[in-house]
Amino acid sequence: TRNGIDFAVADLSLHEFGRKEIRLAEHEMPGLMAFRREYSGVYPLKGARISGSLHMTIQTAVLIETLVDLGAEVRWASCNIFSTQDHAAAAVVVGPYGTEEEPKGISCFAWKGETLPEYWWTAEQMLTWPDGKGPNMILDDGGDATLLVHKGVQYEAAGVVPNAEDDDSEEWKIVLETLRNSLAADGKKWTNIASGIRGVTEETTTGVMRLYQLAAAGELLFPAINVNDAVTKSKFDNRYGIRHSLIDGINRGTDVLIGGKVAVVCGYGDVGKGAAESLRGQGGRVIVTEIDPICALQAAMDGYDVQRLEDVLDKADIIITTTGNKDVVMVEHMAQMKHQAIVGNIGHFDNEIDMAGLARYPGIRRNNIKPQVDEWVFPNGRSIIVLSEGRLLNLGNATGHPSFVMSNSFSNQVIAQIELFTKHEEYDNEVYRLPKVLDEKVARIHLEALGGKLTKLTKEQAEYIDVDVEGPFKPEHYRY
Ligand code: NAI
Repeated sequence: TRNGIDFAVADLSLHEFGRKEIRLAEHEMPGLMAFRREYSGVYPLKGARISGSLHMTIQTAVLIETLVDLGAEVRWASCNIFSTQDHAAAAVVVGPYGTEEEPKGISCFAWKGETLPEYWWTAEQMLTWPDGKGPNMILDDGGDATLLVHKGVQYEAAGVVPNAEDDDSEEWKIVLETLRNSLAADGKKWTNIASGIRGVTEETTTGVMRLYQLAAAGELLFPAINVNDAVTKSKFDNRYGIRHSLIDGINRGTDVLIGGKVAVVCGYGDVGKGAAESLRGQGGRVIVTEIDPICALQAAMDGYDVQRLEDVLDKADIIITTTGNKDVVMVEHMAQMKHQAIVGNIGHFDNEIDMAGLARYPGIRRNNIKPQVDEWVFPNGRSIIVLSEGRLLNLGNATGHPSFVMSNSFSNQVIAQIELFTKHEEYDNEVYRLPKVLDEKVARIHLEALGGKLTKLTKEQAEYIDVDVEGPFKPEHYRY
């Protein structure tokens, strides 16, 4: 704690470097800056206490400072152990007007290279407000903050935290341990926190899936807005963001030439489409695997070879998972790969790649090359290179998506936070999407920033296609 702000970052003295990059990023984030102008002096988030769990990058710093500008108090943690940019974390603690000795920013708990126990400690800190009041909003990416609150409430009601559940992973044991300790200290902690929360806004596909599962089971404790499925989020960030940051991660991690190499992309959803384009853009020969015939056909018509992973292991040089599913690349696959094949995941969680199976493989040897790059040597002498221990490599090996695309995503986050904070009484404990007019507003701002000029409908044209001259321009079922 310094100047009343509690925090845990790698090195506060990095704040000046962070501030310089934030200043450059602000220019590249016209959506967020437009909201600062639009709401100047209005403070729609006054009284909001936002607990945020989202990769602590430079772009996220601009989001955080926008929320603060709109009146919110904020506490933050990263949603991944490798994704923090330490200078960004330092800068949000110091804030635009503070100094290292007298920080005036926000409480942030994030550093690059957390252990899993440290990660869940930061999550708990981010949700634990010093005055005991608790957050009244959650901003989540992947759903870990929401999960901690929901599981905490569940175990407090039961009066006991189980030793294990169906998930017997190391990470789950740590979550249970975290909750067991909090139950021992305060049997109502999570119940109190949950009762104060007006809503959660969720950033990504995987977190949204978890929210729909909770809502379907009737277990969702507060309203949720699915930010991911705003068109200006998933059709841009998941796709064009990945197109930029996938090869960035591979390049920084390995510096291997992609041109001419055979790259396999598992999954051809929004992220897979960006991933395949990213690799093909470098001259990679891309193969796609899919379980859904529609996405598989899209891949084929986009000119990719659609195959099964087990059939192409003997020729694949790079294998990337983008499915948001588990058990996609198993140790049996990895054992058959070419020498020095590169294996990486860009989906939200590390369970797409069987890291546990790899570590248990008889006679395997792990040779760390540098942070977030490991060579795993099989007993026959062949090795594979695994990026970011199977965690999302664009944020582990590089710096994630660039500012401009994140400005789209985070504009939707800001709209969703204002909506749930100010109108939570109008919402049930369900999952909602933002109205299309707001999606179109986000697109309009960013199109203008790129110098694009929109054609205007005439009244007659608008009537002919049955839309309003001012939009929305498409029916809800339109797929873009
Ligand atoms: P999506 O649902 O659009 O695409 C996933 C695709 O994988 C689907 O087409 C599905 O049919 C396919 N799939 C599922 N199981 C499969 C299997 N066993 N083999 C082959 N294909 C399979 O989801 P989206 O939006 O593309 O997101 C994917 C993941 O990426 C999620 O975990 C999401 O949270 C994450 N994400 C990561 C980002 C990053 O910066 N690293 C950015 C945005 C999303």
